[in-house]
Amino acid sequence: MQQTFLMVKPDAVRRGLIGRIVSRFEEKGFQMVAGKLMVIPEELARKHYSEHEGKPFYKDLISFMTSGPVFAMVWEGNDIIDLSRMMMGSTDPQKALPGTIRGDFANLVNRNVIHGSDSPESADREIHLFFDDHELVKC
Ligand code: TYD
Ligand code: MG
Repeated sequence: MQQTFLMVKPDAVRRGLIGRIVSRFEEKGFQMVAGKLMVIPEELARKHYSEHEGKPFYKDLISFMTSGPVFAMVWEGNDIIDLSRMMMGSTDPQKALPGTIRGDFANLVNRNVIHGSDSPESADREIHLFFDDHELVKC
């Protein structure tokens, strides 16, 4: 069993897509073990995306991610890190296949509706950036 950090981004919260995105992971058989609606403080956004500091899209990414509420979650399931990335589709929604979340709900790379951890190391780091251990339900 594996855990990952998933986040519905501000564009998708604004568009009323939380339920449909959450449903995809429920239908797959994964379990939500923590979730909260929150506006990310700038410092947390910077920490979360520190690997991208200095890249051309970094400034816009931070201002977008702090522009409104996100729905931050921890999910659990077999091989969930790789499988959730497959379900999200390519980072660039113009390359994401239909049937994936980004393929179905987005058309711009800087408004790509969802974040998901890309490795066990980033999952562990991101879960603990956003949640305290006591906020995670034991299934
Ligand atoms: P990245 O970690 O490469 O993608 P992913 O979210 O699939 O792990 O990039 C983080 C976010 O930065 C990405 O979801 C959207 C934004 N971004 C841009 O706005 N422009 C870009 O060219 C890239 C690569 C990312
Ligand atoms: Mg990434």
